[in-house]
Amino acid sequence: MFNLSVNNRSRFKTIITYNLLAYKMKTITFTVSKGGVGKSLITANVGAALAENGNKVILVEGDPNHPLQLILNVELTPKDVMLDEVVKRDLKTEKAVYPTNINNLSLIPSGASLQSYFDIDPMKFAKKITNLEADFVFIDTPFPLGKAAFLSLGICEYFVPILTEDEFVLCVESAIDTIRLGKYYLKCIPIGFILNRIKTDEKFNQNFVKDLEDLLEIQCITKIEEDPKISKSYGGAGTEKAFLAYQRLRQSEFAKKMDEIANHLLRELPKPEKKDVAKFLQEIIK
Ligand SMILES: Nc1ncnc2c1ncn2[C@@H]1O[C@H](COP(=O)(O)OP(=O)(O)OP(=O)(O)O)[C@@H](O)[C@H]1O
Ligand SMILES: [Mg+2]
Repeated sequence: MFNLSVNNRSRFKTIITYNLLAYKMKTITFTVSKGGVGKSLITANVGAALAENGNKVILVEGDPNHPLQLILNVELTPKDVMLDEVVKRDLKTEKAVYPTNINNLSLIPSGASLQSYFDIDPMKFAKKITNLEADFVFIDTPFPLGKAAFLSLGICEYFVPILTEDEFVLCVESAIDTIRLGKYYLKCIPIGFILNRIKTDEKFNQNFVKDLEDLLEIQCITKIEEDPKISKSYGGAGTEKAFLAYQRLRQSEFAKKMDEIANHLLRELPKPEKKDVAKFLQEIIK
């Protein structure tokens, strides 16, 4: 009979535990049906914060303007395989996973907008994403969200709405709508919201934030101030190149906030409500 020595036994146990942990992937989308609130910027930078902490992170580009590819400075040639081809030609998703210059952080570029997978093959898209092996998979969503909500909130287990000071009323309205759609229809759990681009700290005081938490029924993960250096993340006029703020401005308040969000995501999160994502999506879409 197979006999394990004490040493081997504990090694064996470690391997099993490691494998179980390795497959405990969290799928998350920082989304809300409102444009320009910092969804892509926060997706890329929180991804970097988690990766620097030793977590394997894969980011999925959902916007044809490829903001993640820009910020992460991933250069591709026309021959490189992207997610749309993976789905259309039923290739292995790994063929479209590209490294970034941050250890453990990879990007899946998409040749198409997230909503177009609805017409390509939504179920196959879901399978390709959920079969990935990583600690975290983030799906970035385009604006307007439209049908892409079914693929982001429909596939992800968790989501984080983002609100800004500018157009605040519209942001609150969008957050309420997205939470309703995500939580009650697409079984995606809102695990907290982020206040971004805050200019008037006095207005967003403790009492105000508490009222907002009561209204949205989730906690505020963090409050990020408007920082002119951060707003140049996509490059500026002339030759200024796009950059990853978490890497370039490592000592900034913004980078600290990214660590705070990363720590929030590393905690034990509520039990996911979807077991078989593809099956769940099929029922929603039919
Ligand atoms: N905390 C911040 N301070 C300053 N500028 C910021 C901050 N957060 C985001 N921005 C800027 O806001 C703009 C929108 O950010 P981003 O593209 O990440 O938003 P988005 O929600 O993904 O937009 P879209 O809906 O178009 O996809 C960018 O120019 C970005 O640099
Ligand atoms: Mg974006």
